[in-house]
Amino acid sequence: MYKKPDNKNNKAYELIEFKKYVSWLKRKKTKEMEVNGRHYRTIWVDGDNPNVINIIDQTKLPYRFDVKQVRTYNEMIRSISDMEVRGAGLIGAAGAYGMYLASLEAPGDEGFLPFVNNAAQKLKKARPTAINLEWAVDKVEKEIEQAGNTAEKVAAALKAANNIADEDAETGKKIGINGLPLIERASADNIGKPVNILTHCNAGWLAFVDHGSALSPVYAAHKKGVKVHVWVDETRPRNQGAMLTAWELSKAGVPHTVITDNEGGLLMQKKMVDMVIVGSDRTTYTGDVANKIGTYLKALAAYDNNIPFYAAVYSSSFDWIISDGVREIPIEQRSDDEVRFITGLDESGKPVKVAVVTEESPVSNYAFDVTPARLVTAIITERGICDANKKSIASMFPDKFRNND
Ligand code: MRU
Repeated sequence: MYKKPDNKNNKAYELIEFKKYVSWLKRKKTKEMEVNGRHYRTIWVDGDNPNVINIIDQTKLPYRFDVKQVRTYNEMIRSISDMEVRGAGLIGAAGAYGMYLASLEAPGDEGFLPFVNNAAQKLKKARPTAINLEWAVDKVEKEIEQAGNTAEKVAAALKAANNIADEDAETGKKIGINGLPLIERASADNIGKPVNILTHCNAGWLAFVDHGSALSPVYAAHKKGVKVHVWVDETRPRNQGAMLTAWELSKAGVPHTVITDNEGGLLMQKKMVDMVIVGSDRTTYTGDVANKIGTYLKALAAYDNNIPFYAAVYSSSFDWIISDGVREIPIEQRSDDEVRFITGLDESGKPVKVAVVTEESPVSNYAFDVTPARLVTAIITERGICDANKKSIASMFPDKFRNND
């Protein structure tokens, strides 16, 4: 267990302590989420039956913690599109395990590859905005194609999916380590007061395999004893903030307050927000950030109030082809019902769905928006922090950057 020393007001001393903390964090096993004292990932291969994939059904949270078994790739497609699994990293891992399930279902010999290739096409269409899904499915498909006989192909699919899940968890941990100094610096300026961080949607461990992106630095700071407080946007229409982020933060004991999506601007004007940290479903190599609908408005308000706006981005969420995010990133449009109805508990504690918009009024439901790079203060990645522009992103990821211009 890392022990926080008494605060000594000395820069060199702080640096040594920070290095010790980082090395403790690195040695610690890669796990974040604990529910009722037990560590969970958001997706895993069943311990008793390796032909079954377990997921935490996020449509039941925060009222019920349900683990669901997924047995076919079509079931996985449904889990992704119905958002039982959601969040950029997690749908990537789910797509990868979906490919493994497809390899188990595929007929032998000549029928095998056409079956898995078709499954790959269908899986990739389950949700269009987060690039991680396409990235992970392509990766597993390639491993399958390169492996030898059918049994080797199935083994290759499982290995590739497990690697994607492990890599996801490891990446989230590194993002926490890299983002931590931003919070520590703000804390030093706040002298004794908590650092107020506003976040939108859910980019915590539920959105990935473990750890998360935007919340990972928050968890790292909280564990280190840095005082933090999170403003949680409720995130209509599906309320991932109110229902998932708040649940996660409660489980981890991180002080937080749920606010309506419209409150952030006022809080920023009142100097009650020190920084904004959001995740990303797809980030262009030029630094435009696609994230849950409403993120752009928060970035505008942050810019107007001179508040740093950070995007925490896994390298698997970068799009190395698209340069103009506003024009080119595909924006998912979801069912009207998500806007028309809202779900909660009634007075007896039973889940109920109630209508908030009448049938007479049409509704619109774009699920994501794009924040242009000029509004993004910096991007926190697993390799370090870079500016939201082509030059800085290319020098952080020279192995992935392709010169498209
Ligand atoms: O529609 P969701 O819940 O899958 O949305 C994705 C997100 O969780 C957010 O946009 C998040 O901030 C991106 S990082 C996972």
